Amino acid sequence: MEFRHLGNSGLVVSEIAYGNWITHGSQIEEEAATACVRAALDEGVTSFDTADVYAQGRAEEVLGRALKGERRDGLEIFSKVYWPMGPGKNDRGLSRKHIVRSCEDSLRRLGTDYLDLYQAHRFDYETPLEETLRAFDDLVRQGKVCYIGVSEWRAEEIERALKLAEEMGLDRIVSNQPQYNMLWRAIEPEVVPASRRGGLGQIVFSPIAQGVLTGKYRPGQDAPAGSRATDETGGRFISRFLQDDVLERVQRLVPLAEEAGMSMGQLAVAWVLQNDNVSSAIIGASRPEQVHDNAAAAGKRLDDDLMRSIDEILGDAVRRDPSLTVSPAERP
Ligand SMILES: NC(=O)c1ccc[n+]([C@@H]2O[C@H](COP(=O)([O-])OP(=O)(O)OC[C@H]3O[C@@H](n4cnc5c(N)ncnc54)[C@H](OP(=O)(O)O)[C@@H]3O)[C@@H](O)[C@H]2O)c1
Repeated sequence: MEFRHLGNSGLVVSEIAYGNWITHGSQIEEEAATACVRAALDEGVTSFDTADVYAQGRAEEVLGRALKGERRDGLEIFSKVYWPMGPGKNDRGLSRKHIVRSCEDSLRRLGTDYLDLYQAHRFDYETPLEETLRAFDDLVRQGKVCYIGVSEWRAEEIERALKLAEEMGLDRIVSNQPQYNMLWRAIEPEVVPASRRGGLGQIVFSPIAQGVLTGKYRPGQDAPAGSRATDETGGRFISRFLQDDVLERVQRLVPLAEEAGMSMGQLAVAWVLQNDNVSSAIIGASRPEQVHDNAAAAGKRLDDDLMRSIDEILGDAVRRDPSLTVSPAERP
């Protein structure tokens, strides 16, 4: 495994993080979930990403059990808050009330007394940013959270948060967690430059586009049995990539990966890590073999010719519009 600093903070994270959205507590049984976590640990992964909302708390519980017995200070555990955790108006968003309650619940479910990184899972337009930053800062001062970050915030939102934290003398955000892969590059025009200026690192999600960049989804064919596209929840999220034009282009990457001596999964994960504003790529997995395969991307360099060939093949299937980074206008 290779390691990077999280933005310009002092925290070091593994280049490959393991995340449990869709899988733990939902798509896969606990035995498979534990085997995936074990595979990640065997590969030297120390950073683990989850959220309160994943399977409504069950994903945090499964991860907590799978990590039990590991040396806590040898791990970096990330969780998040924002999406609804109950029926009430205050069971969601980034109010002081919900942040404080949700953090307590996450700590209990994970079986730990601190989170290394606590992330605002989207921007909340219904809460003053001052209130959100003050609540996060209190958690840091109480020792319940070491660092704070955000997920899928726009450049101007990141900049506002940094300015406000400085004016108010509050702890500042050190990371952003956006979607980023060869096909989805919405952060490149604005979020990455703003993050570089502000000292944030990206912890990117869906580096293999939820499995699409492995090439296992073939144009004109049914999705493979047991894959995310066949899962009731996962199928809704992956569908944006399952178009024949995109899948045909992905098939044309197969010889490039072979020539580079990498699997398709490794090529995709290595591609996001070429961006030096990326601190870590969070991989998901439904089987331990996938973790072993993808984690081998750590430390791999892709030369300029290979990067150019990838761009030529993917062409206008690549999404680059910064307005794709968006939080709900109202709390969900
Ligand atoms: N902040 C946010 O809003 C947000 C949103 C999404 C995700 N995330 C975080 O990012 C993490 C990763 O997201 P993701 O799961 O979409 O990432 P991903 O790594 O792009 O996709 C993972 C999925 O691809 C398939 N796969 C992985 N390796 C494979 C291989 N070698 N061969 C064939 N199939 C393979 C598996 O699904 P199947 O085997 O089921 O096909 C696996 O569950 C999440 O767990 C979460 O922590 C955050």
